[in-house]
This record gives sequence, C-alpha cells and structure tokens, in this order.
Amino acid sequence: MGLRLGFVGVGGIAQRHLANAALRGDVTIVGHADIRLERAQEAARKYGGRAYDGCPALLEAEQPDAVVICTPPDAHGDIEETCAGRGVPFFVEKPVAVSMELAARVKRAVDAAKLTTQVGYMYRFSKGVRRVRELLRSRRIAMVQQHFYMPGLPDRDWWPFLERSGGQLTEQSTHMLDLGRFLCGDVVSVAGTTARVRDWKPRPDSPRTGGLLWAADPFTIPDTTALTLRYASGALGTLSCSMVPGTAWDCGFRIVAEGLIVTIEGGDVRWRGSEEGTEAAGENWPSYVLYDFLDAVLEGRPSAVPYDEGVRSLAISLAGYASAEAGGAPVATADILRGVL
Ligand SMILES: NC(=O)c1ccc[n+]([C@@H]2O[C@H](COP(=O)([O-])OP(=O)(O)OC[C@H]3O[C@@H](n4cnc5c(N)ncnc54)[C@H](O)[C@@H]3O)[C@@H](O)[C@H]2O)c1
Repeated sequence: MGLRLGFVGVGGIAQRHLANAALRGDVTIVGHADIRLERAQEAARKYGGRAYDGCPALLEAEQPDAVVICTPPDAHGDIEETCAGRGVPFFVEKPVAVSMELAARVKRAVDAAKLTTQVGYMYRFSKGVRRVRELLRSRRIAMVQQHFYMPGLPDRDWWPFLERSGGQLTEQSTHMLDLGRFLCGDVVSVAGTTARVRDWKPRPDSPRTGGLLWAADPFTIPDTTALTLRYASGALGTLSCSMVPGTAWDCGFRIVAEGLIVTIEGGDVRWRGSEEGTEAAGENWPSYVLYDFLDAVLEGRPSAVPYDEGVRSLAISLAGYASAEAGGAPVATADILRGVL
C-alpha cells in the first residue's frame, strides 16, 4: 500500500497535487478533508479514499502517514498544529501564513514534534533553476531584479481581502521572493511602497482574462507593489508586482552577477556572459516539490523546503508591507523574525 496520504483543502491547487500523487505507485490516497464536504466527496470519487469535513476527523479515522494541506492563506494554524500533535508530516502550500504570529505558532509545534515538512515553493525544483544555482555559486551577485505580473484577480472569495490572502505580495510574489533567497541568499532589509492603480468596483461589463476577474467589491489589497531589497551578500534587488488586468501572467528574474547575466522566465532559464546556455524547467516540474516531500517521508530523510524556509520567505513580504506602512523606510527582516527563528 506504500505511503498513506491524506489531503486537507481540496480546491484549486489540490487538484494538481492529487493528480501527481495518484501517478505514484508507492502512495495510496486514503482521505480528503474540506469544510465544503461536497469537494471532499468529489475528490474521494475521483482518487479513492473517504471524505471528511475537517482535518481532525481525517487524521482520527484514517491515520495517514502524511498530509497535503492546500487551504487558503488565512486557514492555517489549527490544521498544522493538529498534524504536529499527532506526529504526522505535512506538505503545505505557500504562503505558510499571512502573519508572523501565526507562522511562529506553527513553527513551535513543528519544532517540538521534529516533523518532516515541505512548503510548496515549486520554482526551486525547476531543472533550469538548479543549473543556475550552480553557475552562481562561485560568482559575486550585484543585482537581483524580480517581477510577478498577473492578468487579474483569482476567482476566490478570500483573495481580495488583505487579512485573508495577504495580497499579491504575500500570496503570489512570495514565489519569486523565495526563489531569490534560494539563488542569491538571505535578504536583510526591505523598503516597500504599494498602490491601488485602478478602480476594482464591478461594472455591468466587467470582463475576465484567462479565468481571472477584473472586479471585486470589497477589495482591500494593493494592486501594485514595488520593493527594494538588500541581500546579506551585499547584492541589491528589486521586486515589481502588479495584478492590473489586461496583461499576461509573467514572472521571472534578471540576475546580474560577475561575468554572467541570468534570465529566468517562469521555470525556464538562459544565461550569457563568460558562458552561454539555456535550460528548461523539465517535464511535469511542478510535481517535483510534492515528490521530494513524499520521498523524504518514505526514505526518512530531510525535505528540501522545510517549514522554516516558508517562514523566512514570508518575512520578506511582511517587511515590505511594514515598510510601506512606515512611509517607505527600510525594515530589517531580522526585526520581523525576532523571537521566531
Ligand atoms: N504553488 C502553486 O503554484 C500554487 C498555485 C495555486 C494556489 N496555491 C496556494 O494554495 C492555497 C490554496 O489555493 P486554492 O486556489 O487551491 O484555493 P481554493 O479556495 O480553490 O481551495 C481551498 C480549499 O480549502 C478549503 N478549506 C478552507 N478552510 C479549510 C479548513 N479549515 N479545513 C479544510 N478545508 C478548508 C476550501 O473549502 C477550499 O476547497 C493558497 O495558499 C495558494 O496560494 C499555490
């Protein structure tokens, strides 16, 4: 039967992880928990296992070896603590939380249980990204230029609320901020500014782009954000992100290092300078982050992106918001993380 796997929160992204888990011969999906029970029932019909209306019932009845948590950003805390209390390893989608207070609570539980955990930062597993990490290892990095543009607002009731999603900076751009840490090391301070560039009030003809919305009311998040980052290595960085509709999904990097300029588009990379080359992300590369977790649990080895990493990457977004609130003065990530790590 192999590893007995449970799912908590079986909305959008869980469908990807369910499909990937189902491809593994050494994994059996034993149960699905969702506060919308009909979603858990649908997942059970499609992938096997039984349906539950919450994580505690799933853990009690099925005693899974590991759990995949795909709840919205504001629905973290109790689920992870319940898993940790029972010693059940978990994979959790990014962001790990929308506040450092909650992330710290979960981290204490994870540490106490010495739990295997993984955060869903899938870009770290692109083959191209891994290649670039090797290329950058021996070079001084001067500039880390990151961007994340979305063509609109994801159609989720929690997305337009800052206290529920964390806004684009915490919810989506965290992928790039985390990748920046993976490739270029830790960020020591962040200066940020945010803006609401367009009127998101619904109009009779409010269209969609690629399934994304162009309107929401209430809408309490910034739609455009700019950060300046200072890395521990001495490198400087920027992050530009916007969800103003009409553009396309576009996320990536330009990294300026001694003898090399690297361009990352999604998971694909190219580099030029003293060496030139390209490398694609790899076939079904978004599955690797889950597979690394499953293998870590099966083999009893550490995972590649433990909970701590999610906490450190969250701190960059929160430092950006803290700076914006303070009028743009730099905020140290160490201040955001004080007492947590
Ligand atoms: N890594 C990626 O590429 C990627 C892509 C999309 C989404 N995500 C992340 O995944 C998370 C979920 O996003 P989504 O788009 O799937 O959201 P969603 O709203 O489609 O699904 C979330 C599900 O969780 C359920 N839920 C809420 N609270 C719960 C609770 N306490 N117990 C059990 N179930 C609960 C909801 O009913 C819903 O079915 C977000 O943090 C998002 O950032 C990651």
